[in-house]
Amino acid sequence: MRGTFILSLLSAALGASASLTNSSLKTHVDVLALDNAFNPVKEAYWTGYPHHRRTPFAVSPDGKSAYIAYLDSSETDVHVQELDPTTFKATGTSVTVTGGKEAGGLVAHNDGFALLTNEAMPSGTTNAPPSDTPVAVLYRYTDGEQTWKTWLGGPGVHASEGLASSPDMNGDLVYSESQGLYGAYFVVTDYTGYASGHFGDSIQYVTNAGKLDTITGASSSWGCSHNTGIAFEAADQAPFASICAEDQGAIWLNTKTQGMTNDGVKISNENTTNGGSGEPMGGMSGSYSALARFANTTRYIFAWVSRGAIDVTENTWMGDGYTHVSNRTDGRNVAISLFSNKYTKVGAQATSEVGTEDGDSQVNWVTHGSNDCSNAHAATFGNSSALVTWEEISNPTCDYIAMGCRGQFAGTFFQQVNSQGSKVGAALKSTDVYVAGDMVTMKDGRICWPYVSMDWDLSQAVGWGSTPSTTKKMSIACMSL
Ligand SMILES: *[C@@H]1O[C@H](CO)[C@@H](O)[C@H](O)[C@H]1NC(C)=O
Ligand SMILES: *[C@@H]1O[C@H](CO)[C@@H](O)[C@H](O)[C@H]1NC(C)=O
Ligand SMILES: *[C@@H]1O[C@H](CO)[C@@H](O)[C@H](O)[C@H]1NC(C)=O
Ligand SMILES: *[C@@H]1O[C@H](CO)[C@@H](O)[C@H](O)[C@H]1NC(C)=O
Ligand SMILES: *[C@@H]1O[C@H](CO)[C@@H](O)[C@H](O)[C@H]1NC(C)=O
Repeated sequence: MRGTFILSLLSAALGASASLTNSSLKTHVDVLALDNAFNPVKEAYWTGYPHHRRTPFAVSPDGKSAYIAYLDSSETDVHVQELDPTTFKATGTSVTVTGGKEAGGLVAHNDGFALLTNEAMPSGTTNAPPSDTPVAVLYRYTDGEQTWKTWLGGPGVHASEGLASSPDMNGDLVYSESQGLYGAYFVVTDYTGYASGHFGDSIQYVTNAGKLDTITGASSSWGCSHNTGIAFEAADQAPFASICAEDQGAIWLNTKTQGMTNDGVKISNENTTNGGSGEPMGGMSGSYSALARFANTTRYIFAWVSRGAIDVTENTWMGDGYTHVSNRTDGRNVAISLFSNKYTKVGAQATSEVGTEDGDSQVNWVTHGSNDCSNAHAATFGNSSALVTWEEISNPTCDYIAMGCRGQFAGTFFQQVNSQGSKVGAALKSTDVYVAGDMVTMKDGRICWPYVSMDWDLSQAVGWGSTPSTTKKMSIACMSL
């Protein structure tokens, strides 16, 4: 008894060393009433398997206002609803960004918000992409009114390197309070220039005044080929911390390069087939809350899912120094990586040595099972502890080698890890809470995120089972230590 008492005193003093329990997770089911209907399911690229459609969520620096953005169920118009960060109930009036095709990222300010979306350019725009293909665009609203709108692609944006559209909005928006600068990292397909017809990605910066700011060594017109996953987080100064998954065999910390060259930091070797690399950052509707910064430090944590890597061979198309690998497993497991600053990985990089059998010996695995893991995210509790989450499918069927899998949903898992990347206690499991929008560290230290309370069927492609219904209610879950 006495020993237990002393132990619990000790763990209270150390803070963050107790494991998560069921009471660490609090849900506010259907708490937020929406003015418009929302379809919570998005079909994945290639497989058509269901993903949670992302609902970006953000809280202002003063902690007094929160916003959630969602795509209208008609698939045009993005709505931004303000909510009370304490009760999570709707407050203020909902703002509609007409023509928006996806809610791609959200930053909350004390006086409003900024939204990343994609939309068709006004008809008659010279050099607009063909067939009204949407273009990435950043909106700023102050006290409910539009202050400015800045195109991040299309005519006039990096014209000499080729013009870019964004048929799907996969990416993220972040903001540096210290620099007063927005950064957006998003998938593009070029429609002029050397990369015309090819999918890649772009990093663009915008000032507080809404001016596109082309920053040498930070902005990028076309970086990672066929980008299948983005992780992006603010830094004190541009370039912000960035990670991409590309179609040649690697995941790069590319803060320095903005691209996929091997003077970046190779986080991981991944088997790539048909442009996919296993939806490491969530695939369609993913690419948020994968990279998180520990408060008031230069350190970051990154979470992704991977099939592992064996048999490193030369990637003859890319040439010397670039590699291919085969997958070690059928389903995917959860991995994490730590960075001491936005340019530097803690521990070894992934190997590029041709002939190496274990191409994943640098990986810090969070799971080891035969279940398939997906929808991995990370967020931080202050400066020394993080929350990693993912979903699992038991007895998975993985029909496509470098894409997602299908099977019986086995739960959403929440694992606390410390700042050295070690697990603290066991993972907590929930079968009715999902992560479907940004995981935000609140003023009081909790981590909260939005989701839709519903049955979650991962056993088949969208449209084969029951048609997902739309909803006008959003739920919020919070994890506290
Ligand atoms: C959470 O509760 C479930 C039953 O509802 C139980 O099986 C499980 O062990 C509990 N987990 C923890 C970490 O307390
Ligand atoms: C991906 O892995 C498979 C084995 O599962 C292998 O046949 C294929 O060559 C790998 N792809 C690449 C690009 O190495
Ligand atoms: C590689 O992945 C594919 C698809 O998931 C699977 O069929 C194959 O068995 C995996 N290879 C190994 C070695 O597990
Ligand atoms: C970070 O620093 C700011 C200002 O120094 C402070 O107000 C805040 O509480 C710190 N946050 C954490 C999580 O330590
Ligand atoms: C974390 O923050 C606390 C105060 O908020 C400070 O005492 C401690 O040194 C910080 N730890 C690290 C690793 O930065």
